Amino acid sequence: MKPALLSLPFLALVLASCGNSEDPASSATQAAEMPGPDAGMISDGLAIVEEHCTACHAIGLSDDSPRTDAPPLRTVFADLDPEAIAADFREGIHVGANDMPDFDFGPKGTEAVIEYVKSIQTSVPAAE
Ligand code: HEC
Repeated sequence: MKPALLSLPFLALVLASCGNSEDPASSATQAAEMPGPDAGMISDGLAIVEEHCTACHAIGLSDDSPRTDAPPLRTVFADLDPEAIAADFREGIHVGANDMPDFDFGPKGTEAVIEYVKSIQTSVPAAE
């Protein structure tokens, strides 16, 4: 398989396929491939983001935001501290534009969303 096929849907598929496993050994193997938290959490975050954020934000590595005033999620932590945003989401403090909905994904969901968004900020190059 060519590396060029490592598009976001493919990545999501790979992540999802190991996302249900609670076995620390298998997720450790996966996580060794990528920095930071385990892949299951990132794929959970992707699922939440796909459902709740795509109406306005670009959520991938090279897509455009449907709403021009909503920054692509891959750029939001360039100027913002992920922990501060995580804390705001956790505490139900409003984030973003006035008409951006308030979200409550619970503590785990919030961490998952943040980890997903963190995971797309830098490392992976845009599609070649
Ligand atoms: C109804 C449209 C809409 C939806 C849905 C939406 N957003 Fe936003 N969001 C915006 C807009 C517009 C901005 C830019 C606001 C600004 O900078 O004034 C924004 C800004 C942000 C910011 C930057 C906040 C800041 O303080 O600069 C983050 C982080 C963010 N959104 C995350 C999310 C996440 C995560 C989701 C899904 C769980 C989501 N948004 C869903 C419209 C939306």
